Amino acid sequence: MSPSGLGERIHRAGPVPFSTFVEAALYDPEDGFFATGHGAGRAGGDFITSPEVGPLFGACIARALDRWWHDLGEPDPFVVMEAGAGTGRLCREVLRAAPECSPALRYVLVERSAALREAQRELLTVEPFEHALGPSSPDLSDGGIPMPVEGTGPIVSALEELPALTVEGVVIANELLDNLSFDLVERTEGGWLEIRVGVSEEGAFYEVPVRASEEIVSWLRDLEVPSGARVPVQHAIESWIEDCATRLRRGVVLILDYAAELDELVRREMGWLRTYRTHERGVGPLEDPGSQDITADVLLPTLRRDARRAGFSISVESSQAEWLRALGIEELVEEGRALWEAGAARGDLEALAGRSRITEAAALTDPDGLGAHTVVVLTKKL
Ligand SMILES: C[S@@+](CC[C@H](N)C(=O)[O-])C[C@H]1O[C@@H](n2cnc3c(N)ncnc32)[C@H](O)[C@@H]1O
Repeated sequence: MSPSGLGERIHRAGPVPFSTFVEAALYDPEDGFFATGHGAGRAGGDFITSPEVGPLFGACIARALDRWWHDLGEPDPFVVMEAGAGTGRLCREVLRAAPECSPALRYVLVERSAALREAQRELLTVEPFEHALGPSSPDLSDGGIPMPVEGTGPIVSALEELPALTVEGVVIANELLDNLSFDLVERTEGGWLEIRVGVSEEGAFYEVPVRASEEIVSWLRDLEVPSGARVPVQHAIESWIEDCATRLRRGVVLILDYAAELDELVRREMGWLRTYRTHERGVGPLEDPGSQDITADVLLPTLRRDARRAGFSISVESSQAEWLRALGIEELVEEGRALWEAGAARGDLEALAGRSRITEAAALTDPDGLGAHTVVVLTKKL
């Protein structure tokens, strides 16, 4: 059975865009891959992300949040929205690292999967979103409009989508953008083809190439793609960045993801489109939808275009390894080593956590693994 009768729908209405297929395979509320609680994690998970490596990644993000909080003039409340928050592991480690901004911090976990929102409650105390900005008091100097009481953080709340707020703060997205749905196109001598998805009588999904619409061709206009190459059309990333721009009066969007320049993406042939399940590469993207993750590398030229159009400046573009070093990951490792040396004889938990920082840092900065992820920092009025 494919997600939500996708096969029957295609039988009735004809081939669907690739994005419709990915959307159903990953997010169908009943049997989409993430809806059934699949996702990041070690035992029981499907892939390892940086927060799942251990507490060190969260400690680094806590440092970055403090820097931006100072740059923003130490607002209280300081709203951090983590989009695609999964199990909430990153949030837990940020809070454990006790950043300076904690008393001002309102951390909103934004996660589409109800099963994963439920799982967040195992790691965190999640307050109703109405309390996210903390208790408020009537401020008589401002016509009696309730104002958030300062210093009542950290408060964590959870939502299905980005809240309808305009704030000074930060949006974090670790490995979200590669999981947003995308269309698939192929350059040919005669122009662009869109790859749609059809279904056979036996229920097997297959590719149906059709001439690409004017809208898609216009989206691709700045890209020089050689004949025979396939690339993703990432409209969902464009909309997500626009959504961030409307949520941030001033602030930062931190994106950490698999990403590539156009020529790298073309060189990888179809290696930019991958599937995963239970820590292994999965099968073809059209096979067994709902049973595996489908991800597409983020195309950097269109991400930059989307960001500028939405009014952001691009303040950082680097590898995850370089970015974490600039944040002082090595200093945190040295701190850990000292804790281990001081407590090794006792073998206490703090000493063990200190030692674990050494292996965590190696994984987070591995040039053939997580360290090769791209970090893009977008800023607005900062
Ligand atoms: C690859 S997982 C990453 C989870 C987590 N950030 C981590 O690094 O471990 C992507 C997550 O994004 C969620 N997601 C996808 N689209 C979303 C959206 N539009 N809003 C919120 N969450 C979304 C998925 O349900 C999934 O849990």
